[in-house]
Amino acid sequence: MKRFAIIGGSGLDQLEALSVSARRQVMTPWGAPSAPLCEGTFAGSPVVFLPRHGEAHSLPPHRINYRANVAALRDAGITDILAVTAVGGIGPEAGPGVMVVPDQIIDYTYGREHTFYDGMGAAVDHVDFTQPYSEDLRQLLLAGAARAGHPAVSGGVYGATQGPRLESAAEIARMARDGCTLVGMTGMPEAALAREAGLGYATLSLVVNWAAGVGGGETVSLEEIMGHLREGMGRVLAVVGATLALGLSPQDPG
Ligand code: HPA
Repeated sequence: MKRFAIIGGSGLDQLEALSVSARRQVMTPWGAPSAPLCEGTFAGSPVVFLPRHGEAHSLPPHRINYRANVAALRDAGITDILAVTAVGGIGPEAGPGVMVVPDQIIDYTYGREHTFYDGMGAAVDHVDFTQPYSEDLRQLLLAGAARAGHPAVSGGVYGATQGPRLESAAEIARMARDGCTLVGMTGMPEAALAREAGLGYATLSLVVNWAAGVGGGETVSLEEIMGHLREGMGRVLAVVGATLALGLSPQDPG
């Protein structure tokens, strides 16, 4: 039986529709996670919720303790993480308001604690990351999106940047040449740590702006980002709810 966690990103610091049964402030060998683990029921399904940026959105992407977040979820018995991320769109199919379930990642971040194999005694393992997301979870999210009536784009390359500033137009042009179709600040090292921890992991990305220099805008406007976040988060939650229901239904062989 799968046990799901939702990691909420920008626009999803609180899961208001979660009926909470327990809030656990936990500690890991890597430090404290971004917030207490909130256990409860969301849209009829049991789940653990963790807001990546903290409950008050106070942690910038490079200060998030990704190791503590993933370790805390693993220690809580979670098997699969549904990660929600807000992103900029680079590819033509990724305009504002679109939901994407990416299938690849390029990591442009630096200086982040990015591995559990960090000289703490465990023998080093070089985990396979050819397919950085769990394909069964990707398919589950896509099925959940279809079930919820909000189809998501399947596939895309998530370019993870350092932030917290947005990118220059030349940086985005380089990322486009690299094959990135989405840009966000939190997709790594989260995905790699989940793989190291042996957890299923996939991302539902909500596009909230055209990336710098794309889509004809002179600059990237925070008002636009916030507007698309507000507009899109209801659809994201509907997709996550349907995904959990499908993933936990007895018919699901996983
Ligand atoms: N760049 C990086 N991260 C983002 C963006 C962006 O344009 N929009 C939302 N998250």
